[in-house]
Amino acid sequence: MQIKIQNLSYYYPNSKQKALDSINLEINDGEFVLVAGYSGSGKSTLAKCITGAVPNFYGGKIGGKVLLDDEEILNIEDRRRAGLITMVFQDPERQLLMNKVYREIAFGLENIALDEGTIKKEYGSPLSFVE
Ligand SMILES: Nc1ncnc2c1ncn2[C@@H]1O[C@H](COP(=O)(O)OP(=O)(O)OP(=O)(O)O)[C@@H](O)[C@H]1O
Ligand SMILES: [Mg+2]
Repeated sequence: MQIKIQNLSYYYPNSKQKALDSINLEINDGEFVLVAGYSGSGKSTLAKCITGAVPNFYGGKIGGKVLLDDEEILNIEDRRRAGLITMVFQDPERQLLMNKVYREIAFGLENIALDEGTIKKEYGSPLSFVE
């Protein structure tokens, strides 16, 4: 997958300051990219734009484009987008919701609307996971 960011700028709701200002970036398939910057410089905001959480979830004002394989992220329907790209938060403990490995995996799959039978068939029964 290729990620292309074109002239991306963003304001959080009620903020007069841009969290991102005219970002241009291209990440090609197989590349491993480190984004470094001081606290508050916009690293997490950039990641949220790449997943579409900004502005779909956070609101605010956005300019420019994020393209996944030349398709604009904001035009990709939620369910398909969730299967294409996501992010790991900086505090992993806040991203874990369940107390069993199988339930944690099943939670994500249920959220992309796979039914229980498919989850068990394609991803294994609860007994095949280390609990
Ligand atoms: N939900 C939010 N609402 C309003 N402003 C926000 C929100 N989240 C972040 N900001 C602001 O946007 C700017 C960029 O923040 P961001 O969290 O993207 O920085 P960061 O580089 O990830 O910082 P850190 O290294 O501390 O994780 C900061 O000025 C921050 O205060
Ligand atoms: Mg951050």
